[in-house]
Amino acid sequence: MTVPPALFPERLQDAPLVEGLIARAFGPGRFAKTAERLREDAGRPVRELSFVAWSEGVAVGCVRLWPVDIGGTPALMLGPFAVDEAWRRQGLGAALILRACDEARRRGHGLIVLVGDEPFFGPLGFSSAEARRVRLPGPVDQRRVLVRALRPGAADNLAGRVHAAHPAIPA
Ligand SMILES: CC(C)(COP(=O)(O)OP(=O)(O)OC[C@H]1O[C@@H](n2cnc3c(N)ncnc32)[C@H](O)[C@@H]1OP(=O)(O)O)[C@@H](O)C(=O)NCCC(=O)NCCS
Repeated sequence: MTVPPALFPERLQDAPLVEGLIARAFGPGRFAKTAERLREDAGRPVRELSFVAWSEGVAVGCVRLWPVDIGGTPALMLGPFAVDEAWRRQGLGAALILRACDEARRRGHGLIVLVGDEPFFGPLGFSSAEARRVRLPGPVDQRRVLVRALRPGAADNLAGRVHAAHPAIPA
């Protein structure tokens, strides 16, 4: 019987395996995305809020969170988010998202923003309605901009442009 993947916070040394997984899931087109520009500006993901799913020493799923602010309100931007093809449709993607959200809430964060499909993320607590006045700094389908409030009222009156919260840190 296959043991279900275990989720652990991403460590510095996990980056090559995680980036391989992301490259396989998205292909080279991801570097053109507006969300990718924001991530570059943020410099590095928040490691204690970014999770890797491991199966027998292989990284089979990942989610990363980045520090941003939305019109002056501190928030986290989620992505990339990927599950290895062989492990899809078994609940691992949802488990990664919920784990990252729970850990962010536990550590006192109020908001997560992402660009993604509402049919997938809606049942996980994300909504485009709460993000209707949130603007990304580049071309994006506004219906795919989604927000989850991690505490009641955290998305009330949310409006403004999303900025990376930290300048890029040179390697
Ligand atoms: C999106 C992704 C991470 C989901 O991982 P997963 O482990 O298969 O997710 P889960 O098993 O928790 O959920 C799967 C369910 O979500 C549905 N789902 C997956 N992607 C979806 C989407 N884009 N829109 C709507 N539903 C989606 C599946 O149909 C499945 O539903 P079912 O079990 O009722 O058939 C995975 O498909 C993937 O890596 N895709 C390529 C990269 C990508 O698109 N990442 C997301 C960018 S925001």
